[in-house]
Amino acid sequence: MKLLPLQIHQGLHPAQLQRAAQLYFETFRQQINPILGAESRAIAFLRQAINPQSALTARYDGIMVGLAGLRFDGQQFLQLQLPLFIRHFGWLLGRIRFRQATLFERPLPAGQLALDSLTVAPDMRGQGVGTGLLNAVVEFASRKGFEAVCIQVPNTAPAFYRLCRRLGFNYTETQNWPALSSFGITTFTTLTKTV
Ligand SMILES: CC(C)(COP(=O)(O)OP(=O)(O)OC[C@H]1O[C@@H](n2cnc3c(N)ncnc32)[C@H](O)[C@@H]1OP(=O)(O)O)[C@@H](O)C(=O)NCCC(=O)NCCS
Repeated sequence: MKLLPLQIHQGLHPAQLQRAAQLYFETFRQQINPILGAESRAIAFLRQAINPQSALTARYDGIMVGLAGLRFDGQQFLQLQLPLFIRHFGWLLGRIRFRQATLFERPLPAGQLALDSLTVAPDMRGQGVGTGLLNAVVEFASRKGFEAVCIQVPNTAPAFYRLCRRLGFNYTETQNWPALSSFGITTFTTLTKTV
């Protein structure tokens, strides 16, 4: 299999936030739309919520083609704080939308780094970008001294599940998650890889 020559970087420059927000929105539109509204509004919100330190990016030919959102050491890729919701949506709607967003929060065992999201540009899928990013996440966790990388895969992402299993992530458990059924998500399966 011929793999694309990718450049993998940790962190995002301010100039890359728009592209990162677009990639994230395109991939998770079904979950994002009901909470953050239509595309332009949601992307403006995401630009401000993204924590540049918690991302790994894959670039091909100078263009960002993939993005991994990480959670570690108390940092997370999307900083979903109430004041940001209130600023974007007002006092009441901001509170309602904030509560909806917190339904996605999941605990993280000590000593582990979580991969919370992996997104590859739709026209670049099936060419090894996801593989390159996932391998880079494991290397990053190892350099930072974590014991394991954990991924909670929703039932809505079978291709992602296959990719993780192929790269040596082991099945840990499946939890029912009824609170997210209106977003199409009913279970999360935890996969773990010791690093
Ligand atoms: C899941 C996702 C991240 C995978 O990214 P990707 O770049 O397509 O992944 P890869 O190309 O490395 O691997 C995908 C498949 O293509 C195959 N492949 C990879 N490179 C290839 C190449 N050069 N030629 C032919 N096939 C190739 C792999 O064997 C793999 O097969 P599999 O589906 O049987 O595992 C991507 O599909 C995506 O963004 N999906 C939507 C978002 C999502 O579900 N994210 C996870 C939830 S957080």
